[in-house]
Amino acid sequence: MRYEPIKKDFYIDNRKKILDKIEPNSVVVIGSNDILSTNADGTLPFKQNTSFFYLTGIDQEESYLILAPNHPDPTLREILYLRETSKHIAIWEGQKIDKELGVHLSGIQNIKWHNQFEVGLINAMKYSENLYLFKNDHDRLDTPMQAANDRLIAKCKDLFPLHNFKRLAPILDDLRTCKRAQEIKTLKRACKITEKGFREALKVTRPGLKEYELEAVYSYSFLKEGSRGFGYAPIIAGGANACVLHYLSNDQTLRDGELLLMDVGAEYGNYNADMTRTIPVNGKFTSRQKAVYNAVLRVKNEATKMLIPGTSLDSYNTEVGKLMETELIGLGLLNKVDVKKQNPKEPLYKKYFMHNTSHHLGLDVHDVPNRFRTLESGMVLTVEPGIYIWDEGIGVRLEDDILVADDRPINLMENIPIEADEIEDLMNTGDLI
Ligand code: GLY
Ligand code: MN
Ligand code: MN
Repeated sequence: MRYEPIKKDFYIDNRKKILDKIEPNSVVVIGSNDILSTNADGTLPFKQNTSFFYLTGIDQEESYLILAPNHPDPTLREILYLRETSKHIAIWEGQKIDKELGVHLSGIQNIKWHNQFEVGLINAMKYSENLYLFKNDHDRLDTPMQAANDRLIAKCKDLFPLHNFKRLAPILDDLRTCKRAQEIKTLKRACKITEKGFREALKVTRPGLKEYELEAVYSYSFLKEGSRGFGYAPIIAGGANACVLHYLSNDQTLRDGELLLMDVGAEYGNYNADMTRTIPVNGKFTSRQKAVYNAVLRVKNEATKMLIPGTSLDSYNTEVGKLMETELIGLGLLNKVDVKKQNPKEPLYKKYFMHNTSHHLGLDVHDVPNRFRTLESGMVLTVEPGIYIWDEGIGVRLEDDILVADDRPINLMENIPIEADEIEDLMNTGDLI
């Protein structure tokens, strides 16, 4: 395996926690993601369903989990179905997860091949009233695609029309809200890999370089460390491109005197880092750039202090908005009198800072916890304010990943250079390791 897997006790515990939350006489069924087809016989790289992964540790297609805690036969209360391996598959695709490895990774003792799944499902349903199935119900989900678990729902509705169907996702989202020690360790590793990539990028950034050349530097650096690459599509944006919030083409040339915004994060073991740094292309901020940069940095530092148990993200965003307002007045971008008269529902700062400050982070980059829940120890969130000034071709965003803890917020990216002077020193001395 490319990454050091979290030990099976974590997954055993997660399944136990699910069973504590479901109604009596219930069966839980969840499947892996599909390998997505492109065209002809082409496919995209496999990406596991993160909730399936959270319950099994299995990072492979054509897999299913059945939990049937009330089954009269104790050996059928927990079954993992894996894609059957064969000599043919071994020759064409290499080693897949066999039964022994399946037990080792998941802690599930009863492992069967995936072509036995339907028989197992029918058997489990015979002794249950309720069926918990997984449907991605994220409120910003926007895809025409039918996922493997959507097909499973359709199949179950057809096979078992008289059972009660229940939603598994809210229970899983809830469980995934506070990260456990093993997850924090993996997230820290993703952050460390991201740091290495950033330090490599600092070494080579100069006028004339293409944005995609830096993308290549990160990619090489991440893969070298056992990451499977970017946790999300990287944004490497020189000059005014930084004002395009979802700039993804990364195909322009970096120019002397401009800033470079890099929103990149490494994946490690399916967990994601999410970092943004903004640096001067030529290694030296202009005074205007530095003023904007330090304004964003101050907001980031103050916002981080608010990521403590009990904070609601709604009031947090309002407070960060006020901090931003003060900074924008200081930069001469807003006027005090106009701000006093503004419509509070459409605050003026949104012209320069149009997104929210934080999102949950974990197995998904925009992770699944309910964002209306007040903060608790163990949650991990980004903090990522920005100021985007189209007219000046300046876009600055700074983003760190923060663990909410009882005594103080813990910055998982505290070792990644961020002070303007430090960035300049590193870019000019070559003392980067
Ligand atoms: N890179 C995605 C985000 O910052 O939310
Ligand atoms: Mn980001
Ligand atoms: Mn982010």
